[in-house]
Amino acid sequence: MARRKYVVGNWKMNGGSAAIGEAEAIFAAAAPHTSVDVAICPPFTLIGTLAAALPGATIGGQDCHHAASGAFTGSVAAPMLVDAGATLVIVGHSERRDGCGETDADVQAKAEAALGAGLTVILCVGEPRAVRESGGAIDHVLAQVAGSLPAAFAANRLAIAYEPIWAIGTGLVPTVADVEAMHGAIRAALATRFGGAAQEMRILYGGSVNGENAAELLGARDVDGALVGGASLTAGKFVPIIAAAAELAG
Ligand code: 13P
Repeated sequence: MARRKYVVGNWKMNGGSAAIGEAEAIFAAAAPHTSVDVAICPPFTLIGTLAAALPGATIGGQDCHHAASGAFTGSVAAPMLVDAGATLVIVGHSERRDGCGETDADVQAKAEAALGAGLTVILCVGEPRAVRESGGAIDHVLAQVAGSLPAAFAANRLAIAYEPIWAIGTGLVPTVADVEAMHGAIRAALATRFGGAAQEMRILYGGSVNGENAAELLGARDVDGALVGGASLTAGKFVPIIAAAAELAG
């Protein structure tokens, strides 16, 4: 079945009120590309502002806590994201798995909390450089998928993002053959676990996607979209990626 292309900007810890105009420009330019789903995940501080300024736009968080409320200083709960106007959240980004010590079990709990709060989820997986070089990338990523996916969910509520850690922010990208091998392996694992629903789940690629390489990466087999960091911060860099997705969607 045809899966709609999904292009998501992860602004990471970038952007304040000065970036509102950039988000407006991105969604204005994306609007004619009706064959592509577009979302921006700004810092928590901008979610409410962007959701209010851009009704109908998909705005997401970059993380959430697994609990709905409580004594967790500095954390943000999934229902709070919903309250602020988010409809989506990223969980399990490598900058949280590695930087904040999040385990597969933590990521699974966050994904379950997010789905329970009514959010859709982008669940990130990806291998470090040493694992890629040792030939263990597919096993590593499939173990993350097995350990961090919730037990049950609707196929249209959760997407997986394959982000090789060594490709994030480095300008390095895997070969198309390696991307297809990884996405195919993830799809096969999903099919084993969830049957036909695996054909409906979107698997995004992330890591140094830009306007030049987007068509090739987004055109690869089993690549249903892109999770974009640096090149999502400005309309000038992000819109060509959205346009490349639209071109492929036809
Ligand atoms: P870059 O696009 O900056 O490499 O970041 C990718 C990423 O981590 C998106 O979540």
